[in-house]
Amino acid sequence: MISALRRWGSLLPSYAPIRHNSDSICLQKYLPRATAAKSFLLGPSSPAKRIEIKLGNLKEKEMREELMEIVASHFEIHPFATGLTKENAKHVMRCYLAMSEAFPYIQAGAHRDLLMDAIRRNVPMEPKMEKTFVVGSFLTWDETGGQYLLKTEGISALPKILDTRNFHSRILKKDLATIFKEKIEPNYCTHTHCYLTALGRKLGVYNHTERCAMMVAFELHAGQMIEALWHSLSTELELNKEDLEYFKIHVGGDDPGEAYHIEMVKNLMQSIVDEEHKSQFFTYFKRCYHMNIEWCKAICKMEERV
Ligand SMILES: [Fe+2]
Repeated sequence: MISALRRWGSLLPSYAPIRHNSDSICLQKYLPRATAAKSFLLGPSSPAKRIEIKLGNLKEKEMREELMEIVASHFEIHPFATGLTKENAKHVMRCYLAMSEAFPYIQAGAHRDLLMDAIRRNVPMEPKMEKTFVVGSFLTWDETGGQYLLKTEGISALPKILDTRNFHSRILKKDLATIFKEKIEPNYCTHTHCYLTALGRKLGVYNHTERCAMMVAFELHAGQMIEALWHSLSTELELNKEDLEYFKIHVGGDDPGEAYHIEMVKNLMQSIVDEEHKSQFFTYFKRCYHMNIEWCKAICKMEERV
């Protein structure tokens, strides 16, 4: 456990540019190279294009483009596009379920860490804290199914939020029971435990640029990860993609939620990161994105499972 913790922790000070393994790119068999990272993040068919994006000035536009360029050039092929097989699918999905179940609690808890840090410093809540708080609160709320409920049934449906079967992790659990024909429980393996610990720390860090970078990286990576997982899972296990409800609500159908989340965090980035901190932001962003990717790689390796 300690060595694994060090491993995740070591991502903090020692980020090095990610190099593609050319073999894995050649062997990748699920997603076409050009679409592996871009299909969700950049795809012209994405519903995100229907969202009105107000680009304040050229610098803001350049920043959004630079962000997407980093993802396309450093993280083009997702580990779930090449590393998920019939043999490791159940193990991967148990770890993934653990992350899905834990995320809303981690995001909510990060606010507490941030608040306590501000109290210790005896400083007021800054607008940059409010911005990450409102985005984090929405993401937490959305994970409970509450957002979808109120959107489809209106405020009078509020008491129904107590029906926690609408939590996204519960929807995933139901899908997994159908896929594997048995009850699937989350696996907080060492890799997952360490990843979630590092994620929580970064989402609550007082440094506004780093905290924002983690939120942006998590959401952008989530879009790529879910897309790759949906494709690989349905291909490897010969499933009908449309039967997998969890994936449909995130990245399927005509109006999936994830595209809106990505637009929201891009706007968060623009409202928090000024010219002076831009370079620092992209360094943090790459490091945070890499951390997500490393966890996905780690849980695909059966020999390292705990
Ligand atoms: Fe979700």
